[in-house]
Amino acid sequence: MIAQETSVPDAAGGATVAAVVVLAAGQGTRMRSSTPKVLHPLGGRSMLGHVLAAAEPLGAEATVVVVGAGRSAVEEHLARIAPGALPVVQEEQRGSGHAAAVALAAVPDLEGPVLLVNGDAPLLRAATVAELVDTHRRTGSTLTVLTAEVDAPTGLGRIIRGADGGVQAIVEESDATDEQRAIREINAGVYVADADALRRSLARIGADNEQGEQYFTDVLGLLVAEGAPVGGVIAADPDDVLGCNDRRELAARRRTLNDRVLDDLMRAGVTVVDPQTTWVDVTATVEPDAVLEPGTQLLGTTRVATGAVVGPDTTLVDTEVEEGATVVRAHCLQAVIGPAVAVGPFAYLRPGTRLGTKAKIGAFVETKNADIGAGSKVPHLSYVGDATIGQGTNIGAATVFVNYDGVAKHHTTIGDHARTGADNMFVAPVTVGDGAYTAAGSVITSDVPPGAMAIARAPQRNVGGWVRRRRPGTPAAEAAEAAERRAEASAEGRSEAPRTDHEQ
Ligand code: UD1
Ligand code: CA
Repeated sequence: MIAQETSVPDAAGGATVAAVVVLAAGQGTRMRSSTPKVLHPLGGRSMLGHVLAAAEPLGAEATVVVVGAGRSAVEEHLARIAPGALPVVQEEQRGSGHAAAVALAAVPDLEGPVLLVNGDAPLLRAATVAELVDTHRRTGSTLTVLTAEVDAPTGLGRIIRGADGGVQAIVEESDATDEQRAIREINAGVYVADADALRRSLARIGADNEQGEQYFTDVLGLLVAEGAPVGGVIAADPDDVLGCNDRRELAARRRTLNDRVLDDLMRAGVTVVDPQTTWVDVTATVEPDAVLEPGTQLLGTTRVATGAVVGPDTTLVDTEVEEGATVVRAHCLQAVIGPAVAVGPFAYLRPGTRLGTKAKIGAFVETKNADIGAGSKVPHLSYVGDATIGQGTNIGAATVFVNYDGVAKHHTTIGDHARTGADNMFVAPVTVGDGAYTAAGSVITSDVPPGAMAIARAPQRNVGGWVRRRRPGTPAAEAAEAAERRAEASAEGRSEAPRTDHEQ
């Protein structure tokens, strides 16, 4: 029997195993979802993705994932996130022990230590797994189980220790006595065990329990009875081992994961103004001296450089924000925001948006597939789609890049230092040359040469007296008549009653 050990999360080191087995075939009934439990996302990965990431540094030759409930979706996801992993089908969910046996049967030549882990342990950290594996190796155990001391052990397997402190058995809550239920040390559902010993013991476990399932946890008691060395490692942070069985637990795990990410960022020098409303995926990166304002979400592979200010109320997905840029009340997908750029408030940057140094995207502007050069500005109320804009150019307010003819998308090119008027339409494909101007209200359908002024609007025509004739008796007509009388009076040098201002 091996005495307990306490893991040190920072101690990683070259711990390794021959294989990783993830048990992920269970129904996840309590999630009440058409999505398999292990595919529910939190903090930028699926639950399964987090478990695989924690095991990844072990560098195992084989990774086996037992799939069952919703298996095609799980297999598809696995092919995307871990193409090297081997999905193994457990046709009927006859318990975690049965699942482990099915996994080992799929890799018959496997020998040596195997990490077994429940697929619903999204807070598990690589350092904790490494410490478990390391302890297993150092102590020469046949099986080592990760445990934790928790305040609310309800629903979890309890760790039964002998007088010498060694682990003797795991008892599931439904099979536990009142005395056993009072135990606060629980089974995390993460184990390292020798492959051969596992095969032998798994062949012997029954389903004589409350749930009528083959419990993996029974392996432990069998090994102890054989006199095999069995150990336990208490996780330094009990959060590491928390499972996830329903949506409330999912929300709680998501919050814990986010707290960890934000704590790491703040320790590294990032200002997080309101950790309660700031969400950063584990896959995002933020450099020191960046500022995250309240209501900010940094998702996917988003990267924020030093000196940048993001938020308030901003969501960035797979977006790059370079040094010193500000992004205020914006929603950005796969955009590249260059150094010292200003975005927002109320901007929508869609995939393929690239903003050069000191460019500006102002209020109520949407961009897509748009390469906007250094120092260029799209300050107000515009749509810029499928466009290249040079440097130092200003796009007038309320401009639309008309990129779609109903069938195909077309490109617009605007040169350097151009000044386009307010309320322009650029009907693509079209090019506006360097230094060109366009008049306000123009619909630009032909190319504009460099330095030219393009005017593409009907000339103005005033129909005198129209309101008096066609809208007599209206306030407009009365105002017009009063204005005419004043004009006549001033022409004749008379003084008229002063004009009344707007009606209140
Ligand atoms: C399990 C442990 C319990 C531990 C808890 C930690 C058992 C018997 N009990 O309980 O001691 O405290 O995890 O969270 O293992 N699975 C399959 N095929 C099956 C059944 C389950 O692949 O036929 C997978 C599930 O997808 C899950 C894992 O095995 O990832 C554990 O199964 P689950 O039903 O969630 O066990 P718990 O009751 O949570
Ligand atoms: Ca579980």
